[in-house]
Amino acid sequence: MKYEIVNLKTVTNEDEKLGGLTFIEAERDIPFAIKRIYCIYKTEENQHRGFHAHKKNWQLLFCPYGVIDIIITDGEEKRVVTLDHPSKGLVLYPGLWREMIWKQDDSVLCVAASEYYDSEEYIRSYDEYLQYRKEVGNDAEADTNTFEGGGWITSRK
Ligand code: TYD
Repeated sequence: MKYEIVNLKTVTNEDEKLGGLTFIEAERDIPFAIKRIYCIYKTEENQHRGFHAHKKNWQLLFCPYGVIDIIITDGEEKRVVTLDHPSKGLVLYPGLWREMIWKQDDSVLCVAASEYYDSEEYIRSYDEYLQYRKEVGNDAEADTNTFEGGGWITSRK
């Protein structure tokens, strides 16, 4: 299952009251160029969202405020990644099914995506997803070699 947990570059201040700053440089810190950014906010605790896979989109997910569980599966294996710090990022290759659970009121989910919004590249039914994985197999998860920038290091802490 192709995903990476990445340490997003973060700057802190000696004066804690000033807060922190996290930044991401496309094609350096994540293996794709960013075409779209969106965020989900004002979501209440225990709400579930997602329930879809993308055929084309690479995505970086991070939570600058709060705690959100991201559940990912390729139809066989399943992982839960808890985004509980602004510096923790999750890179999802295309082809993975994801669900998100808000563990705390008002947690914010930020997403950087490699593609513009296109409802056609979503799979929104889990049965359809399993069928898609049967047909396309592991090719559903694009390889880093297909990334124009290439040369991205595979794993970080
Ligand atoms: P959706 O991806 O279904 O969010 P979730 O799976 O977390 O519930 O998006 C919700 C709605 O927002 C849907 O009608 C499509 C729209 N939308 C856009 O128009 N552009 C976007 O970039 C995104 C992410 C969603």
